[in-house]
Amino acid sequence: MSGLRMSMEVVDPEILTLLARLEQHDTGTYAHSMRVAEYCDWFASHLNMRRMDRQRFVHSALLHDIGKLRIPSEVLNKNTKLTDEEWREIRNHPVYGMEYVSGLADRNIVLPDVIMLHHENTDGTGYPFNSRTSELSAQVRIIRVIDSFDAMTSNRNYQLVKNVDEALAELIRCEGTLYDPEIVRLFCAHIQDASKSS
Ligand SMILES: [Fe+2]
Repeated sequence: MSGLRMSMEVVDPEILTLLARLEQHDTGTYAHSMRVAEYCDWFASHLNMRRMDRQRFVHSALLHDIGKLRIPSEVLNKNTKLTDEEWREIRNHPVYGMEYVSGLADRNIVLPDVIMLHHENTDGTGYPFNSRTSELSAQVRIIRVIDSFDAMTSNRNYQLVKNVDEALAELIRCEGTLYDPEIVRLFCAHIQDASKSS
């Protein structure tokens, strides 16, 4: 991965302002969002996604966790077990995210479903709506995989961090339940190709 192909200089100022707020609120979530957007851009290029669709997808990936602005950073970084109330708040971050991106969605700069549905699972066990695959766009199913892959390979708890092969094995283990099998297959193939040629 060599950085976002789309220059951040051409990203809408409203997106940059939100990202700056996120960086200040929680650097871990900010760094994760940048990496997820980078993977989404890279993966979309392999899928030959149309330029405008790809751009909207990357903008949405940059802001997929923007709803975490509403959640105290102590809760986001808590090392001990979350209370039920804290967990409820965390599970609401996709809905909170919509409050921040409604203007961008109205201008057709982001895809609201990517922000709202990025924690929905293929088998309908995700949150916040228990949506099923048939209700999820390709971009939503892609970010579900990439979000998890980045979380696994860059976990801030060193004990829990997985190498690339372990993370791909985990994606395969959970295909059909958490993840769309076709997206997992394509993602694994492209990551393996990229690691062979690097
Ligand atoms: Fe999230």
